[in-house]
Amino acid sequence: MSRLDTKYWVVDKKDEKLTTNPQIQEAALWINKNEVVAFPTETVYGLGANALSDEAIAKIYEAKGRPSDNPLIVHIAKESQLQNLVKSIPESAEKLMAAFWPGPLTIIFESNSTVSSKVTAGLSTVAIRMPDHPVALALIEAAGVPVAAPSANLSGKPSPTNAEHVLHDLQGRIAGIVDGGPTGVGVESTVIDCTSTPAIILRPGGITREEIEAVIGPVAVDKALTEKGQAPKSPGMKYTHYAPKAPLVIVLGSNTFMQNLIDKERQSGKKVGVLATEESKQRYKADVIVACGYREDLKTVARDLYDSLRAFDKEMVDIIFSEGFPRTGLGEAIMNRLEKAAGGHIIKE
Ligand code: TXA
Ligand code: MG
Repeated sequence: MSRLDTKYWVVDKKDEKLTTNPQIQEAALWINKNEVVAFPTETVYGLGANALSDEAIAKIYEAKGRPSDNPLIVHIAKESQLQNLVKSIPESAEKLMAAFWPGPLTIIFESNSTVSSKVTAGLSTVAIRMPDHPVALALIEAAGVPVAAPSANLSGKPSPTNAEHVLHDLQGRIAGIVDGGPTGVGVESTVIDCTSTPAIILRPGGITREEIEAVIGPVAVDKALTEKGQAPKSPGMKYTHYAPKAPLVIVLGSNTFMQNLIDKERQSGKKVGVLATEESKQRYKADVIVACGYREDLKTVARDLYDSLRAFDKEMVDIIFSEGFPRTGLGEAIMNRLEKAAGGHIIKE
């Protein structure tokens, strides 16, 4: 692809009049010209384009190097935009929207085919979410169209949680970046399919299963998330993802067990990285130790996860050992992303 002159707009998310902010207006103009613009959401940065235009959506896939069979999430700013895009709104979706929108929950509906068939990758369903970020909402509103947006990383890389990550991956490949500071949640939205009963969680994310079940009762979880050899219902979940350059191994066991693994690799001359937490970082001896939040507060682990993974690329380590996390609450999303980054490579004591 030809190299673009990527524009950079810095926006204060606390600005009271974001929709009329000149930077946002200019970014929205590029979306209306069917170009691709990165913007912050509360989860990760998104790579946005006009969801109604085949031409615009093709540019997202090209910029990311994304397989064309992996559909995109459509972002809206107001609930009134939803009716125009879907065949019907199931009761479970009504309840979830009331509880969690705007927020990190993506809902799958039957599509009425208004969005480009490239957005849905030819599926009869469409994924929709209303992000909880003032800059994202202002940009979508200013553009006046639903905005399709995958995470703004190169396909396979960890998702971007600040504008610098986006620049690193996509400078020269997209029309512009709206820098609204670091994101907060740090892992992507939960994806839930409300076209079946009970609803099915296809991707764990920022809204936990426990929070969802408190609103609509028991839900199913896509078997592919827990059983090997099952094809995922969410096309994107089958790809390797979030991967740093060096191989990553999840270690479930004591600190001594982990240290033995580290020592063995170092003895064979490898530069070893460790993904630990603030509580445990002192317990290891390795070449690079990254503390990823506080184990006591999984929100901080989720927030820092992708930045921590990217840090190992900068340090050029040969192998990374990561601690594991409990698979409850936000831990489900954290472990799902770590397992994808590790390509399923887990060592148990
Ligand atoms: O937090 C997020 O969701 C971020 C921000 C930017 O909003 N976006 C994001 O998009 O994570 P992406 O493209 O990286 O992941 C979208 C996921 C993929 O796993 C994709 O397969 C799934 O949603 N998906 C999209 N449309 C779908 C559909 N109709 N049926 C099943 N899965 C779908
Ligand atoms: Mg992604």
